[in-house]
Amino acid sequence: MSFQNLLVEIEGAIGVVTINRPDKLNALNRRTLEELSSLLSDLQADENIKGILLTGSGEKAFVAGADLKEIKDLNGESAIRFARFGQELFDRIENFPKPVIALVNGFALGGGCELAMACHIRIASENARFGQPEINLGIIPGYGGTQRLARLIGKGRALEILLTGDMIDARRALEIGLVNRVVPAEKLMDQGKALLGKIIDKGAIAVQSIFQAVNQGLNQTLDQGLHLEAFLFGRVCATKDKDEGISAFFEKRKPQFKGH
Ligand code: COA
Repeated sequence: MSFQNLLVEIEGAIGVVTINRPDKLNALNRRTLEELSSLLSDLQADENIKGILLTGSGEKAFVAGADLKEIKDLNGESAIRFARFGQELFDRIENFPKPVIALVNGFALGGGCELAMACHIRIASENARFGQPEINLGIIPGYGGTQRLARLIGKGRALEILLTGDMIDARRALEIGLVNRVVPAEKLMDQGKALLGKIIDKGAIAVQSIFQAVNQGLNQTLDQGLHLEAFLFGRVCATKDKDEGISAFFEKRKPQFKGH
């Protein structure tokens, strides 16, 4: 698939993906979501790619929401299909086997906030603004906002953001745990690369096991989650990466993980 609304740069083992509709503040239309879906499949299959940075084009927005031109024409039935399409894509991001870091470089509203929340880690520039403004349009989030926001920052804080539709700034987003870090805009890409670089140096099976344990475990009881953790602990303990990690510790050297 050739991409109209995405820019893709491969830098070593990192795929830098930029949503590129700056004149529409990178609003997510169907084409953009389809392109993202196709690109994710490519990046998942590519063994040379170990992680993804996801950002928005221009200095103003990460993503200013789902495309309101498309939402305008939805009816009750088509709206369900619309929401499920986006939700399934964002689920794929959340469960992607390689780390995905959102670099939020401006407005992350509606579907933009939902997209950032589906990523594993979020780094915001100081000028970033977050919100779920759907309530101001007489609707509610449809790409996971009611679910992921409450899970990420707690029910009370999520309800305030969802019910008022107000934006919060990067400092507040950091305070409530919506983002992991806030950095000056000019440092966003470098910080993203440094953090992702650190993670992709680890053993890939251990990284994947952490995604599975946390994502699946959060939807289970504590007891089920602990059983899952024990199962995954067994899996990683059977890898060569485990032998390498423990040997490197005793030999006082940096481990060289191979992902098996
Ligand atoms: N869907 C479609 N187009 C959008 C959009 C969206 N979610 N968000 C912004 N755009 C478009 C605008 O229509 C405008 O297009 P135009 O130049 O053809 O008129 C362009 O992007 C620039 O936006 P504009 O509103 O002029 O910029 P601004 O700096 O004055 O305001 C925002 C920025 C983010 C506050 C404002 O664009 C906004 O409120 N966007 C919608 C946010 C939203 O409700 N998202 C949830 C959708 S469910």
